[in-house]
Amino acid sequence: MGHVDTGKTKLLDKIRRTNVQEGEAGGITQQIGATFFPDIALQEQTKKVDPNFDLEVPGIMVIDTPGHESFNNLRKRGSSLCDLAILVIDIMHGLEPQTVESLELLKKRKCPFVIALNKIDVCYQNSKTYTCVREALDRQEQFVRDEFRQRYDKVVLQLNELGLNVALYWENDDYRRNISIVPTSALTGEGVPDLLYMLLYLAQTLMASKLEVEEELQCTVIEVKTIEGLGTTIDVILVNGTLREGDQIVLAGMDGPIVTTIRALLTPQPMKEMRVKNEYVHHAMINQSMGVKICAPGLDQAVAGTELQVVGPDDDLEELKDRTTWT
Ligand code: GTP
Ligand code: MG
Ligand code: NA
Repeated sequence: MGHVDTGKTKLLDKIRRTNVQEGEAGGITQQIGATFFPDIALQEQTKKVDPNFDLEVPGIMVIDTPGHESFNNLRKRGSSLCDLAILVIDIMHGLEPQTVESLELLKKRKCPFVIALNKIDVCYQNSKTYTCVREALDRQEQFVRDEFRQRYDKVVLQLNELGLNVALYWENDDYRRNISIVPTSALTGEGVPDLLYMLLYLAQTLMASKLEVEEELQCTVIEVKTIEGLGTTIDVILVNGTLREGDQIVLAGMDGPIVTTIRALLTPQPMKEMRVKNEYVHHAMINQSMGVKICAPGLDQAVAGTELQVVGPDDDLEELKDRTTWT
C-alpha cells in the first residue's frame, strides 16, 4: 500500500524480474494485482540477509494496490484481504496523503505491517543489484550516508507525529512495539531481500498461530474480465478455503445473485502478476491463498468487490443467494 508512484509495483517487478509497471497506462496502477511467490524464490532472497533463516511457509501471495487517490475503494478491498502489509514510502517525499490514508486503514484493521522506505538509490553513489541494504549502506561514502540518515530522520519524525514508533529493522529491539523500516530501491533491488526477509520473519514469529489454513471459504471477486477464447471470467483472491473445478458457486450480479458452475480454475505462473495476460496454469483444485481466474458460464453481470460462495452439500442455495452482498 502507499501513495501514488512510491514504487509499489516496481518493487514487485524487481522481485518477479518482470516489467509490469512499464506496461501500465500512465504508469498508474488501476486494478488490484496478485502474485504468488513460491518458497524457493523467497529462500534465494532471504539467505542474502540470513543464511540460516528457516523458511517455514510454502510461499506468499502479495497483493498490489493502486496509490492514486481515486482508488480508495480498491485500497480498502486489497488491504482487507491481507495478513500483513507493506507500506511503501518514497524517501524523497516522506509522508503523503495516501500514506496517511493507508496507515489509517491498517490501524483500523489492526493489521501488522512493515515500511519500505523506497528509492534510496536516489541518494546513493554505488549500487549493486539485489544486495542487502546494510551492505549497500556500508558501500556509500560518508556524505551519502549522512544524506540518507537526514532523510530517514525526517520521515521518522513525521511517523512519530502520527503516534507511530518505528525503527530501522536491524535496530528494532521490539517487533511488537516498533514498526520496522526497511530501506529499499526498486531500481537496484537493494533492500529487496531484506524486505522479504522481514515479512517472512514477522509472518513466522508474530503471526504463526494466525496463519493456520482455515476451511471456511473467504474469496473476493476483484475483477470481471472478458478474455478471448474464455468469455467473461472473474479474477478472485482466494484467502481461505478450497475451490474445485465443478463447484457450484454463488456471487452477486448486477441483476441479482448469479449461480453457476466452475468450468476452469486458472492461475498465472508463479512470480507472474495476475492482472497481466499470461500463460495460465490449470488446476482441478486450489486450497492456497492465491489470485485465481475462474471461468464459468453466465458471469457477464458479475460485480467486482463481492464475496464468492461455494454451494456445499449441506448448504441451502436460497439462503446463500440471500447472503450475496456487495462489499
Ligand atoms: P501506483 O500503483 O500508481 O500508485 O504507483 P506505484 O507505487 O506502484 O509506483 P510505480 O511502481 O509505478 O513507480 C513509480 C515511478 O517511480 C516509476 O517511474 C518508477 O520507475 C519509479 N521508481 C519506483 N521505485 C523506484 C526506486 O526505488 N528508485 C527510483 N529511482 N525510482 C523508482
Ligand atoms: Mg503500482
Ligand atoms: Na505508478
